[in-house]
Parts: sequence; C-alpha cells; structure tokens
Amino acid sequence: MQSIKTAESQLRWTRKHLLSLEQLSADELRFILDTALSLKEVSTRSIKKVPALRGRVVVNAFFEDSTRTRVSFSLAAQRLSADIIDFSEKTSSTNKGETLIDTARNIEAMGIDILVVRHGAAGAADILSRAMQCSIVNAGDGAHEHPTQALLDALTIRERKGRIDGLSVAVIGDILHSRVARSNIYLLTKLGATVRVAGPGTLVPAEFAELVEQGLRIERSVEDAVAGADVVMILRIQRERQDAAFFPSMREYAVHYGLHPEHLKRAAPDAIVMHPGPINRGIEISSEIADGSSSLILDQVTTGVAVRMAVLYLLAGGSRDGFTEEQNGRAKKEKRERKGNKG
Ligand code: CP
Repeated sequence: MQSIKTAESQLRWTRKHLLSLEQLSADELRFILDTALSLKEVSTRSIKKVPALRGRVVVNAFFEDSTRTRVSFSLAAQRLSADIIDFSEKTSSTNKGETLIDTARNIEAMGIDILVVRHGAAGAADILSRAMQCSIVNAGDGAHEHPTQALLDALTIRERKGRIDGLSVAVIGDILHSRVARSNIYLLTKLGATVRVAGPGTLVPAEFAELVEQGLRIERSVEDAVAGADVVMILRIQRERQDAAFFPSMREYAVHYGLHPEHLKRAAPDAIVMHPGPINRGIEISSEIADGSSSLILDQVTTGVAVRMAVLYLLAGGSRDGFTEEQNGRAKKEKRERKGNKG
C-alpha cells in the first residue's frame, strides 16, 4: 500500500487504521513522529486547543485498565476539538453477554469516526478493523502491540538524544508479556537503533531468536544489557498476563532484574531511563532511579499526548503540512490581534 503521498506541498498518511508498528515503514514512523513534534506546541498554549478535528467523534473503548493511554487519548482528542466519548467495559452491556464486535458495531451505529480500543486479546484491534467502517487505533492488544506507546517512547528519545539511528537501547523485564517491548523493537530497529533485551529466561520469548539476525541482542543479565547503553527501558512484570510462576518470587526478581543505581554506572554517561508505566517501585526500578535526573518517565507521558494527537489527526485525513499551515494562520491572526490592540 502507498502509505505516504510525497507530493511536495501535501504530505499525507493514507492508512485507515493504526494496528501495529510491524506493518509500518521507517518513513511512515518518521512521518508520525514529525507530525507529533509539530503538534506538541499546542499543549504549551494557554488555550490548549486547535480546531483540526472539530465535528469528528472519537470513542475510547477500553476493555482493560489504563491511566496514561486513556487520559492522553481523551486529551489528544479534546486538544484537536473532536468530541470524545469514554466507554468502559466494566459498566457496559458486555457484562450481559454482548460480543466485542457487536459492542463496537453498536457504538459505530451512533456515528463515530475513530475507535480507540484497548483489549486483553492479541489481535482484537485487527478483528475490529475488518468488521467496521470507522478508523481503529490499537491502544494495546494483549501481549501483541502498543503502537502509540512505542511512538511516544521514540519521540522522547529523539527529543533528548537528537536521533534514534545508531543508539543502543536496553529493554529489561517481562519481555514475554510486553506489547510495549514488541512495538519498541519493531520501531527502534527500523529507525536504526540496536536493541538488547534482558529478563529471566522464562520471560524472553523463544521466537525472539529469529530477530537476532536483524540485530536484536538477547542478554542474560541486567549488567550485560545496560553496558554502554544510551537508553535503558524498564518494563513492568505483567502479573495479569502470567498464568504460571515465571520466577520464584518478586523479591528475587527485584534482586536479579530490578534496575539500581549501580547498574547505571555501566551505561553510557548520558544514558536515559524510561518506563512505560505504571511503575512498581522497588521491584523493576528503584525509586532513586525513577525519580532521578536520568529518568524521562514523566516526559514520556507528556509526549504521549502529542503522539496521540498526531495519530488521531492523521487518521482523520489531516496532513502534516496542513497543520503547519494552520499554525502559520494562527500565528498571523495573533499578530494582527496584537497590532489591533496597540492601535
Ligand atoms: N503505558 C500504559 O499503557 O499505561 P496505562 O496502562 O496506564 O495506559
């Protein structure tokens, strides 16, 4: 599929859905990141709103718990002037036996443009994209992918480091159950980073051996994974997805795989630490690191709003140049108003 029209004046992303980063090319990934960067400024204004999606309807359909993703998709839609409806499984008629597709089709029948869906089953967003007319955004599907998380991670890295190409990124923790790890591995390797993963042997998927040819390194210890790393990305133990004992106890996990200040001495001197949240202090990361100067955990959350704005905006048919024109128009209008006030 031709995903980006590269006509000089109007760059436009023509995909209907955002389901996984495995499907996207490096050019598409850069395009979304560039668009997000141009939208980031909106959140710094006193009136944090642009009219780009006025009249459009976005529904957040979360079938799994969320704080960051759900709130930031809501804020992103609001900052673009879209109408946003929050749907929660816990209070819905799915509890009376309605299926996922029937639920989504009924919501769509009320007239919506974009459905943001989080679900515990891998492939849920993909199934919906085949059954519905509106755009679908995958906000995390089981242990499969979490595309907007990896995009916000990448933009956070790019803003701090100035690039992604050539960086060494260590991803440490529960890789097996982590959709964040998968999306990040696809994205970071496509954009030229080297990724190493580390965790208990039981929590590193066997199929990752196939990715070694593409440059993925599988390390057996945190010490080896962080050695010389520019970025250290820590993952939470996903107890909600674990149906067996993958390590003896949380205490032992914390001792062997938790990130402590001593580890960071082995990383690059200006290494940054990231975590998608929610963090479990004292288990996968010490408070000293989570709250320390290397930590970009809250910067990730801030950047998430811009990334989700970009995704909603582009899926709704917006062009990156279109937004830039809108910004220029606004700047000109503000200048005129300032002149008028002086006169
Ligand atoms: N990182 C992330 O997806 O956080 P939430 O589960 O709170 O949305």
